[in-house]
Amino acid sequence: MNYSLSLLDEYRSLFPILQSKVHLAACSQGALSIHVKQATEKYVHSLMMEGTNWSEAIQNVEESKRKFAQLIGAEIDEIAVMTSVSDAISAIATSLSYDEGKNRIFTTDMDFPTVGHIWLAQRQNGAEIHFLPTKEDTIYPEHYERYLDGNTLLTSIADVSYYNGFKQDIAQISKIVHEKGSLLLVDAYQSAGHYPLHVKEMNIDILVTGTRKYLLGIPGIAFLYVKKELAETLTPRITGWLGQEAFASLDLHNLCYGAGTRRFETGTPSFISAYAASSALDLFLDIGVERISEHCRKLADFTVSYGVEKGLRPAGSLSSKQRGIMTAFYIDKAQEVEKSLRTKGILVSSRKDVIRMAPHFYNTTSDIEQAINEICKIQ
Ligand SMILES: Cc1ncc(COP(=O)(O)O)c(C=O)c1O
Repeated sequence: MNYSLSLLDEYRSLFPILQSKVHLAACSQGALSIHVKQATEKYVHSLMMEGTNWSEAIQNVEESKRKFAQLIGAEIDEIAVMTSVSDAISAIATSLSYDEGKNRIFTTDMDFPTVGHIWLAQRQNGAEIHFLPTKEDTIYPEHYERYLDGNTLLTSIADVSYYNGFKQDIAQISKIVHEKGSLLLVDAYQSAGHYPLHVKEMNIDILVTGTRKYLLGIPGIAFLYVKKELAETLTPRITGWLGQEAFASLDLHNLCYGAGTRRFETGTPSFISAYAASSALDLFLDIGVERISEHCRKLADFTVSYGVEKGLRPAGSLSSKQRGIMTAFYIDKAQEVEKSLRTKGILVSSRKDVIRMAPHFYNTTSDIEQAINEICKIQ
């Protein structure tokens, strides 16, 4: 069986790495296109030859925000650029007031460690942190119903788990979270780019993601979406000149936060990453996330069925609805297996006791067969 690329085939040639390697590691770092390479070279070249390229660089930052906003159905002034997902979550965590009676933060046992660290650090500001438990590799929506209460200020969850690919039903959870009077923060680092996200339809208050995984950029830029009405009620405690209303006026003595979500920006962002992000986002807007999602879904389902057929044990739920497109298999000595596959030109990503295989629109079923066959030879 080959879910041949038909429509997506034309895009494979944009990724030079695919000529010599099987790339299944978008959960860690996505493949880079020649367009992204050209965009980063343009930045370096103009800096080297012109001495300064500030206006053009700022324009690339704004373009990357505009394109990301379009991707998730938001307005540009609801997006801020940050340097990492950790910084984006911290910007929110340090803007909240943890008043008695409304100071509980709920996150889950399945979130990326940085999420736990950031919220736990807010205990010194009066926050009470709770972790929703995981049962049989699953987080049940009923748990949100059972554990959240009127004291819950914010619920911070991952759309898709970095570890086992478990996918939550964000629209359903959003309803429960809001009925409890809590804000909803979604970490979409493992879903943005291959899964359609409509922040308004899903009623997400805050969304964070970075650009180096499925968005096919490089490290240094992450996006923070905050619903405009909410953003303007929050007062950043971490700030800087680019977060001010009139930053160009260089007013040292007055603090006047910018409109919308830009108020969370601080200092000069990683411009080169913004060039990369802006160029990479063009591909998503061109192809369409729905189309990418459809292709990746088939690849993900194939990964599970082929892996099981070959005797591998997938982590996480087996229900297609509860899986992102990354599949994790329990593998002995996962780190060593990852290294061994790399020597054969197959890029996967290990975490603890699993090997993660994360396809994208540039992958085929043959890539997955090759990776699984190689793992089976080693095991
Ligand atoms: C789901 C998720 N959230 C957050 C992070 C951390 O992102 P950053 O290093 O940009 O803070 C990662 C990194 O792998 C991740 O997978």
